Amino acid sequence: MILHRKKNNVDLLLSEEVFSLLRVFIEETKRSAFKLLEIDDKFKLLQPGYSVVDCGAAPGAWSQVAVQRVNSAGTGPDLPRGTVIGVDLLHIPPLDGAHFLSNHDVTDLATHGKLLELLPDGQAHVILSDMAPNASGFREMDHEKLIAMCLSLIDLAEKVLQPQGSLLCKYWDGKLAHKLQERLSSVFGSVRTVKPDASRKDSAERYFLARMYREPVK
Ligand SMILES: C[S@@+](CC[C@H](N)C(=O)[O-])C[C@H]1O[C@@H](n2cnc3c(N)ncnc32)[C@H](O)[C@@H]1O
Repeated sequence: MILHRKKNNVDLLLSEEVFSLLRVFIEETKRSAFKLLEIDDKFKLLQPGYSVVDCGAAPGAWSQVAVQRVNSAGTGPDLPRGTVIGVDLLHIPPLDGAHFLSNHDVTDLATHGKLLELLPDGQAHVILSDMAPNASGFREMDHEKLIAMCLSLIDLAEKVLQPQGSLLCKYWDGKLAHKLQERLSSVFGSVRTVKPDASRKDSAERYFLARMYREPVK
């Protein structure tokens, strides 16, 4: 009897823990979607018919926003139909209107090759990146890691981004942010920092919105 009660208590504790983790997960996913919605409402990045690469797409909130805005599921029958391709190291649950490359590293050249094959004419109008490394807890180190990941997006842009295209990428503010901004400015006509209201005020999270891509002079 006592054993039975103990088991129930453990079950109860476990289910409370699971529910609270689930609640946090749902809240964070919603917050993610709000950030992109807010940025897109302001800057009109995503248009019906556009091709989008979503880097670090799991669990899929940004891709859902992109699918709806570029009409890649064809829900707006009178609008041009776009394309959304999401990439993540993790599994990305299937989503109508999106093609996902789960278990793929965005910084890997083989992934670039697959994106070239999947994109219409091998070209994207927009690259989105909400990628983030697993936080180590060492702020400086995490900042440097994420900046390196963002810098690799410039190589991806060179392969798949069409002239005048846009790149939106998350970074954590720190001493190397200016280096990323400089590199972006060398290939984009306009680069600005964005901090959506949905992003926690006290976090170092920022986004660079780079527009008007021009291919680098070789
Ligand atoms: C904050 S989550 C993205 C949330 C997503 N934008 C959404 O709205 O659902 C960051 C993601 O970046 C992914 N990531 C980190 N490094 C990556 C890499 N090199 N290639 C692909 N994905 C990566 C992680 O696996 C993680 O799923």
